[in-house]
Amino acid sequence: MEQDITSRFTFFDCIRRNLTPLLVIGFGFILILTFLYYFYIQPQTDIGPEQPIPFSHRVHAGVKEIKCQFCHPYVARSRHPGLPPVEKCLYCHKYIIPEHPEVKKDHWYLENQIPIPWRKVNYLPEHVLFNHERHIKMGLVCDECHGAVEAMDRIKAVRFKMQFCVECHKERKANMDCWLACHS
Ligand code: HEC
Ligand code: HEC
Ligand code: HEC
Ligand code: HEC
Repeated sequence: MEQDITSRFTFFDCIRRNLTPLLVIGFGFILILTFLYYFYIQPQTDIGPEQPIPFSHRVHAGVKEIKCQFCHPYVARSRHPGLPPVEKCLYCHKYIIPEHPEVKKDHWYLENQIPIPWRKVNYLPEHVLFNHERHIKMGLVCDECHGAVEAMDRIKAVRFKMQFCVECHKERKANMDCWLACHS
């Protein structure tokens, strides 16, 4: 019993005497956790939203060099670039890795006649008029506005602020009469 008390005393004594090094260790521990958080967890917030099928632009447009316009065929012809219907995925995936679990989801969507519910990534405020057609016809490449899509697994949203439109329009001497051209 007596021995128990002394040993407890020595334990607290020990802590009190070593308070500084213990604080340093504790603080260091917190620093390491913060570091790990920012380097391993935080970057996830820097990639785009999760999609119903983890479709990778890096694999398709990068590694396999499939042309952007193969899947977004209306980009130079209309307001909306278009997203590929599931039939287009299966055009290849009927033969390429058809048993891959993520590719099987393609089959499921087709069989059930449900369009793949891709989550929209890029948004413009409603009052902004933007048309790809004019831009693509002027020879602008996708990267100029969307970044290096062919290096992205998940597409990341670009924050299209007005400054972004205006700067390039100034540079390329495009229409600056924004109230007529870009705003409804
Ligand atoms: C094999 C088909 C395919 C190819 C090739 C492809 N894409 Fe896509 N793209 C998709 C699909 C499917 C989505 C919707 C899912 C997503 O956002 O990842 C998409 C989404 C996007 C989006 C985001 C749309 C939004 O919601 O705002 C952009 C931007 C885009 N693609 C640009 C490109 C560019 C640039 C290239 C060429 C470098 C390219 N894509 C090549 C299939 C393709
Ligand atoms: C022009 C042909 C083509 C089209 C169209 C295509 N893919 Fe692929 N896809 C490929 C090739 C090639 C691979 C790489 C296969 C491998 O690694 O062996 C691939 C790989 C994949 C993978 C495997 C996982 C990965 O990222 O490596 C998934 C999932 C996938 N595709 C989904 C889709 C979806 C969804 C669509 C439609 C929006 C689509 N693909 C359209 C050719 C295509
Ligand atoms: C001048 C800048 C610019 C260029 C160049 C550009 N885009 Fe876009 N893109 C945008 C903007 C801004 C949006 C968002 C528009 C919206 O939500 O209506 C967008 C949206 C998209 C979307 C999503 C459309 C939707 O309906 O959700 C796709 C897909 C896309 N772009 C593909 C491409 C491809 C492929 C190219 C190259 C051939 C390209 N873009 C070139 C600015 C650009
Ligand atoms: C990387 C350069 C670039 C960026 C970024 C850009 N544009 Fe443009 N834009 C151009 C060029 C070049 C033209 C001229 C096309 C022509 O003369 O047919 C143009 C033309 C236009 C037109 C047609 C103007 C007319 O004469 O009727 C509109 C509308 C427009 N842009 C809106 C936008 C909006 C909105 C944004 C931002 C979301 C944007 N643009 C971003 C380069 C750009």
